[in-house]
Amino acid sequence: MLATLRGVSKVFTNPRTGKGLVALNDVTLEVERGEFLCLIGPSGCGKSTTLNLLAGFEFPTVGEAAFKEAPIKAPSPERGVVFQEPSLFPWMTVLQNVTFSLRGTEDRAMRYLEMVGLSDFAQARPNELSGGMKQRVAIARALAMDPDILLMDEPFGSLDEQTRRKLDNEVLDLWKKEGKTVVFVTHSIDEALILGTRVVLMSASPGRINKEWKIDAPWPRDPSSPRMVKLKEEMIRGLQVCSCAKSAPQVSFINVDLEV
Ligand SMILES: Nc1ncnc2c1ncn2[C@@H]1O[C@H](COP(=O)(O)OP(=O)(O)O)[C@@H](O)[C@H]1O
Ligand SMILES: [Mg+2]
Repeated sequence: MLATLRGVSKVFTNPRTGKGLVALNDVTLEVERGEFLCLIGPSGCGKSTTLNLLAGFEFPTVGEAAFKEAPIKAPSPERGVVFQEPSLFPWMTVLQNVTFSLRGTEDRAMRYLEMVGLSDFAQARPNELSGGMKQRVAIARALAMDPDILLMDEPFGSLDEQTRRKLDNEVLDLWKKEGKTVVFVTHSIDEALILGTRVVLMSASPGRINKEWKIDAPWPRDPSSPRMVKLKEEMIRGLQVCSCAKSAPQVSFINVDLEV
């Protein structure tokens, strides 16, 4: 197993009230090398928290987060992250943005800019790029570090539908070509259906794993095929059930019984 969360609960404490909020409750997730795992679920169910635990930005309150069988103690170039907002340095050129985070050569940065179709924009500044192009730079930046796993948190959520589809297909191509493992958070069932080799549905209040589907259909996938239509219906139904929960439960102490 490449990455695992074992019996993970995550409580965020409000520093003002001292109260805890259970963001994840007893989540066990195993990410297999080479898979394209999509995480879906209603807003606030803990998708980003799950990804941040794998990235090493957050740590479990209870349980263990591990990468290649070793506890995750900090962020690492082995685990590349792409957020919804590309967070590029506005004063640097595209090439400098990729080279900087690489702490490496421009040659290598250029290779990845070429891969995402942006070599002509290497000397441009981020404000000269469209939203989709900025997100491509963020992907090039993550890939250039040659990570084992790419953790993507709603990477195309703020883009228009057409650009999103295009970038979805590009990520799919890169995943196939580079042999990476991808964990991709999205709230779009359509996106998960088109991309994932596995789709995991999380439910809210508190966040936990609800259900999962393995999808072994080849690409490009036809969303109108009977099999995809059936899968989509199942996922919509699952998501509806998961979305009924109210806001995340609050607890008074950290070492509470997390079986809320
Ligand atoms: N740093 C934080 N401090 C306090 N609460 C947080 C923090 N990060 C997330 N939360 C809370 O944890 C829950 C899960 O959040 P998140 O993982 O961002 O959900 P999602 O990505 O599925 O929308 C939410 O109730 C959110 O408000
Ligand atoms: Mg989120």
